[in-house]
Amino acid sequence: MKNIDTFLHVKGESQFTDDLIVPEGTLHAAVFSSSIAHGKITHLNLDTAKQIDGVYAILTADDILGDNQIGAIIPDEPLLATSVVHYIGQPIAVVIAKTADIARTATKTIVIDFEEYPTIFDARQAYAKGQLIGSPHTLSLGNIETVWKNCDVIVEGKVESGGQEHIYLETQSVFAYPTENEGLKVISSTQSPNDVQRLIAGVLNLPMHKIEVDVLRLGGGFGGKESQATAWAAMTALAAFKLKKPIKLVLRRDEDMRMTGKRHPYSSDFKMGLTHNGQILAYEVTFYQNAGAAADLSPAVLGRSLFHATNSYFIPHVKTTGYICRTNLPPNTAFRGFGTPQAVFVIESAIFKAAEQMDVAPSFIQKKNLLKTGDEFSYGMKVENSQASRCWEKAEHEIEKRYQEINFFNKINPLRKKGLAIMPICFGISFNGALFMNQANAIVHIYTDGSISVSTGAIEMGQGVNMKIRQVIANIFSIPLSRVNVESANTKRIANMSPTAASLAADLNGNATKLACLKLLDRLKTFAAKKLNAVSTEDLQLKEEVLYLKGEPTDLTWQGLIGEMYLNRVSLTAHSHYSIPNLYFDEAKEKGHPFAYHVFGTAMVEVTLDCLRGTYRIDTVKIVHDFGKSLNPLIDKGQVEGAVVQGIGWMTIEELMYANNGSLLTDTLANYTIPDIRFAPDIQVDFLENSENPLGLFNSKAVGEPPFLYGIGAYFAILQAMKAFRPTLAGQFSAPLTSEKVLLSLYEN
Ligand code: MTE
Ligand code: MOS
Repeated sequence: MKNIDTFLHVKGESQFTDDLIVPEGTLHAAVFSSSIAHGKITHLNLDTAKQIDGVYAILTADDILGDNQIGAIIPDEPLLATSVVHYIGQPIAVVIAKTADIARTATKTIVIDFEEYPTIFDARQAYAKGQLIGSPHTLSLGNIETVWKNCDVIVEGKVESGGQEHIYLETQSVFAYPTENEGLKVISSTQSPNDVQRLIAGVLNLPMHKIEVDVLRLGGGFGGKESQATAWAAMTALAAFKLKKPIKLVLRRDEDMRMTGKRHPYSSDFKMGLTHNGQILAYEVTFYQNAGAAADLSPAVLGRSLFHATNSYFIPHVKTTGYICRTNLPPNTAFRGFGTPQAVFVIESAIFKAAEQMDVAPSFIQKKNLLKTGDEFSYGMKVENSQASRCWEKAEHEIEKRYQEINFFNKINPLRKKGLAIMPICFGISFNGALFMNQANAIVHIYTDGSISVSTGAIEMGQGVNMKIRQVIANIFSIPLSRVNVESANTKRIANMSPTAASLAADLNGNATKLACLKLLDRLKTFAAKKLNAVSTEDLQLKEEVLYLKGEPTDLTWQGLIGEMYLNRVSLTAHSHYSIPNLYFDEAKEKGHPFAYHVFGTAMVEVTLDCLRGTYRIDTVKIVHDFGKSLNPLIDKGQVEGAVVQGIGWMTIEELMYANNGSLLTDTLANYTIPDIRFAPDIQVDFLENSENPLGLFNSKAVGEPPFLYGIGAYFAILQAMKAFRPTLAGQFSAPLTSEKVLLSLYEN
């Protein structure tokens, strides 16, 4: 069950957009972007740049034929700046030249003057100045105002979490060329071919059927290419269309880091009320989301923060409010977890603070409040099949022993301290912001040699979705995986595809594929039944390429039957559409059933802190995760491991730094550090047994994003270790918890 892609990857044979063999005469683009965070362009002179040998054209907003607009949800984002710029790195012009080097050199000779405007980089400051996108949202359950007086313990506090750079290995890239009759073909490294197609059509003022977007695979997306591949694709498409030439644009790492949005930094206020015995009665939270200069996907991201504000706990009285704050940073965007990690970090901080005040372990409070089947979320849905306690109980096995060992270690080591945290998670599965997106299509072709080709809207970006789709087909027909090929995602084959996001690609596209295969299987059985003289199709079964009748092998084979079906003019192609059943949401009441199901799990995280240097090691992460009935344990385990490491990175070492004028200082991999193999802990993944999920694909559960949340446990494990060194230290909740921060708080007065 190894992912076929991995064999190509290790041999360097897998093709990414930049690897495509392009026709002779292909031109290259480079982007000229704003060097100030806010201001008006008072003068722009392209003359010198245009005269450089090898420069073919420089395109600005004036060259746009249709709408200068690429906003993903709200139309508030121009493709190329017109008069006012809102962030450093905002595209103003695109230079087209013989080589990428010439194009980049030319951007440096463009003369521009600005009248500078005041800037805001902080979400609370933006809020104070009334710089909000959309109207604030509040979700509530119970009646919070009346319940505070019943609480024995009330804690309040402030929580900060930083942004996070996606660091997909493949930077944003696109190749576009004109086709006949005003058409365009666009090879884009995007998670959302449909959005790329739709927005290019808008920019060029063409019908969508003129634009073909094709995606073979991405070298990682992590949410960073859900909406933010569109700009580069649209600029390149515009150039290809105007110049009638093939054009390629590949961002350099530093350009990508400076010009694209990241995970949203959040600043939050919480208030939590509990009884003496640790039951949480009330939780109030306000999120100030740093959206950057345009809406992008911020409203949907904030929606998930509100939905998941209570993580894996049942709290009878909840009030959650969120503000989308406009700042002068690149528009922030989707990133694995999509607003959930930010919200979960806040409630875990609140629990940590309450535990401090009550002088109990945070795990005492966490365990007491875990979700049970039937509990209600603030969005009105009831927990349908809670696995929270089962995961927790399995994960905390031996915890007493671990606490003893850690206490002993901490007693005998004056300068090294260990800490442990437990991290339960709960994550809802569906596109909750826009329920219409919970649909997919698949087209399955069987060729006369019995080999199969399948097209869906799923984008392979390392998460193994193609392998899962392949498995669906191989399972249903009982044929080897080698008979199945998963095609690129292409807007001419699959229309109106939803982005590969929300961890849903396998559920949606796999189920559409399954339905198409069942149609074909039915045709095959009907054909065979006739051939075997009117037996019931129910007596027929395919097993390892042989047709069985009432459990006995016949002399009909897969390949033979397919060949005969063709000769008898039976269609060997099927299309199917799948949509997740029973989803609804009443926007006025903010209540409904926005998720198909929830994913649960618990991690136990252990760290060792060097109290002389402030450095730490994340030692182990032991996880019990609810995969449902995993379709591919190897892929799923890899997804958990990758997500955990990414989550730990966000909480610990990944720190974005800006100069006072808003320019990103950490724009290389030398000064923006992400976890590497040596930083990564020992990760043990235990598959929760006996979890079934009829709404998933063959009883599996979506896996891509939820395990990111386990990484949050690392923050609290480090905090525990810090407190072991300095017992008077009060919890502070400002991620990332870098070594510098640790060191300062261990010793400062
Ligand atoms: N895994 C790899 N290797 N590369 C990625 O870019 N993206 C993550 C997750 N796992 C990603 C990944 C994100 S943000 C999502 S939403 C899901 O994969 C999307 O794929 P799925 O729907 O097939 O799980
Ligand atoms: Mo994932 S953040 O939904 O692309």
